[in-house]
Amino acid sequence: MIDQEKKVELLKMAVKGSENAHCPYSNFRVGAAVLGKSGKVYLGGNIENVSYGATVCAERVAIWKAVSEGEKEFEAIAVIGPGKKEAYPCAQCRQVMVEFGLDWLVISGDSQGNYLGEKTVREIVPFPFVPSALLGE
Ligand code: THU
Repeated sequence: MIDQEKKVELLKMAVKGSENAHCPYSNFRVGAAVLGKSGKVYLGGNIENVSYGATVCAERVAIWKAVSEGEKEFEAIAVIGPGKKEAYPCAQCRQVMVEFGLDWLVISGDSQGNYLGEKTVREIVPFPFVPSALLGE
């Protein structure tokens, strides 16, 4: 469980993540900060590509960084987008989140890192395709 202060701290870190986004094509700047169970935070910004299809969302950049550093269990991910609207992950990123559990938190904020809401991965992915489907656990 993380308290409100920590959630806002994570949102502010997501803003930091957005500062290194590479988004010349959409100009849609997204930032993410994922908090591992170790306590470490990994930042991400969306990284676009001229081919468009090779673009990676901020959430996955942050999660790939964490997993590649050996962190596979998460407490929460904070996501911020441009403007004042709630930012929630795309469906591909949701599936990547499911890979690492259903009971962790997605915290949504605006471009300034103001808190706008939260959901669990379970809530934003109803009827999930889970690792146990293949692993048979
Ligand atoms: N994007 C993200 O980084 N995260 C999301 O959850 C939605 C979309 C990025 C991908 C692309 O660089 C830009 O936003 C426009 O789709």
